[in-house]
Amino acid sequence: MLIDSFNRIHNYLRISLTDNCNLRCFYCMPEEDYSFAPASRLMQTHEIEEIAQTFVRLGVNKIRLTGGEPLVRKDAARIIASLAKLPVSLHMTTNGVRLHEFKEVLHEANIKSINVSLDTLQADKFQLITRRNNFERVFDNIHMLIDSGVHVKINVVAMKGLNDSEINDFIGWTKDTPVHVRFIEFMPFSGNKWTSNKVLTWQQILHTIEQEYSFVPLKGDPNDTSKKYIVPGHAGTFAVISTMTAPFCSTCNRMRLTADGKMKNCLFSKGETDLLTALRNGENIENLIRESISSKAKELGGQFINDFENVQSNEIQNRSMISIGG
Ligand code: 5AD
Ligand code: SF4
Repeated sequence: MLIDSFNRIHNYLRISLTDNCNLRCFYCMPEEDYSFAPASRLMQTHEIEEIAQTFVRLGVNKIRLTGGEPLVRKDAARIIASLAKLPVSLHMTTNGVRLHEFKEVLHEANIKSINVSLDTLQADKFQLITRRNNFERVFDNIHMLIDSGVHVKINVVAMKGLNDSEINDFIGWTKDTPVHVRFIEFMPFSGNKWTSNKVLTWQQILHTIEQEYSFVPLKGDPNDTSKKYIVPGHAGTFAVISTMTAPFCSTCNRMRLTADGKMKNCLFSKGETDLLTALRNGENIENLIRESISSKAKELGGQFINDFENVQSNEIQNRSMISIGG
């Protein structure tokens, strides 16, 4: 088992398949010329399998595939099929653009829950945020998943002046649609123009919803990152993820593997452990994984010691979101 110095058991691995994406969300991808990692630096399919198997031996029972956008990787179908054979529950976070091409693959892999990123219900705003014109495609694909019995969570990055006016449109959507909408506080990453005054806090989000709906809390699970609610009578549910104003690090069970094979013990960790190079050199990566976990900081990678209002995003040492994988 992977236990850190704060007694947290780490059994959940998020694997980024690529740092490439078919959308260009400004809060995720740095604006200045971003260059994707060349294929030779990415983990190959067999390397992903081998590293994942090692994590499973160390107690991992849940794996989430992320990106960039995981489904732009050419061999995504092969990777999904091979990881589906491991004794883990397999999940994915996607922007939804190519889901229709993977319907069979996802079904075969028995993936029961998929997170789709969607920050707006308006086609023109989708274009503004992502710089691509794919709203209808994503919306149709979400309904395709729901119709095939997959549990769909919608990740909405909540930002002042951008989609704060749509909070209750999302809640309205849950009336007849069995989706789980998660509002995420905007987080700072390298090059994403974060400022504290763009953060819509979870209290502000709940306050907005209260103006139109009454809702009740739902019971959470032990490692939950979100606080869940339902408007009685609605087919769907919603949640808030309060990373910036009320972090939930004390129950963290998550580890990350970037597409170039570096392990991060926290979304906000400065340090990385190069598992891929070690694997290619024939070294034993188990010890490296254990060392990474035992050096995990208590909260937020040890990087935000101030209240979120005083966080200086340019002082944070981290990758951009697109090259971490969320
Ligand atoms: N702040 C909050 N959430 C973010 N995501 C990407 N960038 C940010 C950010 N700066 C979300 C995306 C995706 C998930 C992996 O992380 O919406 O759904
Ligand atoms: Fe692509 Fe997701 Fe980043 Fe948007 S948030 S650019 S969809 S990886």
